[in-house]
Amino acid sequence: MNIYYFTGTGNSIAICRELQKNFEDAKFTSIASFAGRTEIGDDSDVVGFVVPTYYMDIPEIVRDFVSRLRLRPDAYVFAVIHYGLAYGRAFHSLNGVLETGGCKLSLGWGIALPDNSIVFKTALAKQPAMHSEMTGTVSELAAAVSDRRSVPLPGRNSAIMGLNSRMGAFMFRKVIGVDRKRVTEVCTHCGLCSDVCPVNNVTVSEDNVVFGDNCAECFACIHWCPQRAVRFGLLKLTDKSKYTNPVVSAADVISQNEALSNIRGTP
Ligand SMILES: Cc1cc2nc3c(=O)[nH]c(=O)nc-3n(C[C@H](O)[C@H](O)[C@H](O)COP(=O)(O)O)c2cc1C
Ligand code: SF4
Ligand code: SF4
Repeated sequence: MNIYYFTGTGNSIAICRELQKNFEDAKFTSIASFAGRTEIGDDSDVVGFVVPTYYMDIPEIVRDFVSRLRLRPDAYVFAVIHYGLAYGRAFHSLNGVLETGGCKLSLGWGIALPDNSIVFKTALAKQPAMHSEMTGTVSELAAAVSDRRSVPLPGRNSAIMGLNSRMGAFMFRKVIGVDRKRVTEVCTHCGLCSDVCPVNNVTVSEDNVVFGDNCAECFACIHWCPQRAVRFGLLKLTDKSKYTNPVVSAADVISQNEALSNIRGTP
């Protein structure tokens, strides 16, 4: 079994660790570690994805990766898509990309976890229950995968859903200003924002921090900065909006950049 994941603030890694308890032989591979490869072959009989929702859809980096992934037509494919509020058309989008490659998504599993989008915050008091419910729901998912269960995909894929998704992305990027990244004077040039960036989009020097135009929108740089020095346009962290998964470290997130890395670190 091969499981592909993508993360910014660690929720995907926490889910993968729970899956690992159920599937000891599963191999976990970071989607970010495939940057630059044109086509990726995988002939396993079971393939899984663990990815977040962005703008009621799958992240662009995930869409791009899956479009380059060549799977067996008879592979059993499942996906865990986690979200703060709503996953919208994410499962149907993923299935669409798989179908273009001659496969399909047999099982889609949504898991609610704290929202890292800063705009939409998950109350701190609710977060511990969400984390512990996640472990229970992953056990149910593992049973469904073991049975090779196939069920109708959650969510909908209508023209309105597509429009909502595009409008949400526009609001975040251009109005709220996720495209306008900078750091404030409290930055100590420690380099962590560059290290956690899954797509090498941040360059830190002694007197500067420069963001490129290849952002995967994972929000790792803003949440992991120890000084809270990163700003995305109007967005800045507060005690209520700062979030990283409590069982995941910055080192775990950094490891997803390493070629074909597995999930590591101590839960
Ligand atoms: C740019 C961006 C867009 C997001 N859009 C949504 C969304 O449309 N719906 C939702 O429920 N959560 C959304 N989220 C929240 C994440 O899907 C959620 O917090 C996820 O568990 C984070 O995963 P990670 O910790 O593995 O990075 C968004 C987060 C980001 C950074
Ligand atoms: S992580 Fe924060 S303090 Fe460190 S270099 Fe980046 S912006 Fe500056
Ligand atoms: S620049 Fe920040 S938000 Fe963009 S991909 Fe890198 S870490 Fe994620």
